Amino acid sequence: MQELISQYLAEIGQFSTQNAEELEQFRIKFLSKKGLIPDLFEDFKNVPPEQRREVGQALNDLKNKAQDKVNLLKEQIEAGATEVKSGIDLSLPVDFMQLGSRHPLSIIRNEIVQIFSRIGFVVAEGLDIEDDWHNFTALNFQQDHPARDMQDTFFIERDPEIVLRTHTSPVQIRAMELRKPPLREIYPGRVYRNEAISARAHCIFHQVEGLYVDLDVSFADLKQTLYYFAHEMFGEGTRVRFRPSYFPFTEPSAEMDITCFVCGGKGCPICKYSGWVEILGCGMVDPSVLENCGIDSEEYTGFAFGMGIERIAILKYRIQDIRLFFENDVRFLRQFTGVV
Ligand code: PHE
Repeated sequence: MQELISQYLAEIGQFSTQNAEELEQFRIKFLSKKGLIPDLFEDFKNVPPEQRREVGQALNDLKNKAQDKVNLLKEQIEAGATEVKSGIDLSLPVDFMQLGSRHPLSIIRNEIVQIFSRIGFVVAEGLDIEDDWHNFTALNFQQDHPARDMQDTFFIERDPEIVLRTHTSPVQIRAMELRKPPLREIYPGRVYRNEAISARAHCIFHQVEGLYVDLDVSFADLKQTLYYFAHEMFGEGTRVRFRPSYFPFTEPSAEMDITCFVCGGKGCPICKYSGWVEILGCGMVDPSVLENCGIDSEEYTGFAFGMGIERIAILKYRIQDIRLFFENDVRFLRQFTGVV
């Protein structure tokens, strides 16, 4: 017994931990009902009477040492104050890493890109600084078209032929000049308009343009592609309607509305009680636009569409003020942490 007692004492003396689970294992091993120390107390009845006093004391001493050790370590763990040799306090609570978040416009853009990627559209980019040909002329804007007016377009002072692109449609022109059909592409990008900045309008915003040019592309293909997009983006139950519209570079042209996803079409302030929200412009690529890019309009047809990313983000996240997208206020951006 004495041998066991000194063996246990040595083990208890050496034991140390900062881990509550390990400490509990230690306690169970030595002090629980079936533990090593109660075991020794069990054997105590076999000790001859003349040695009982001495052994009894040694046993009690062992038990106290074990119990003291448990109490001490428990306290240290609870206080989180265990110091290791290096002097670094490993028990201090960690500083949580601040997770960054994606910008809401990036979230929406990625979602749009993914939806169209699934049906074979590939992403391409154009230029933010464009020439008059790509931004206007090749897209059939007449010389006196109001969109060319100084009010809408940022011109470069020393060269009125150079503009900040007012939409992503010039990327269509660059694509068709560079590559020949079949073309199935989308063009996300930033656009610029000379607007007074307010809660509803900004001089910079973002669009995603889509272009599909091939043999036998029809308005039915356009509709079906955009139905698919609306259902993927806004949910299965979303209804879609096309209204006739006008763009210089598409004929026929349409605007697409979807049932308001805030009220489900019942009517609310977001959809101005109409039940519908406008989401994009679209149409069949005007044959003269194809010809401007050297594509035979007798052989090929195509459709195009364009949508505003801010508009979708505003509707989806119920953002009241478009300026929030460009101010980089972390209190705003932080709300998108974890959204991918
Ligand atoms: N470029 C148009 C705009 O900025 C949108 C559009 C793109 C319309 C493609 C039809 C086809 O409003």
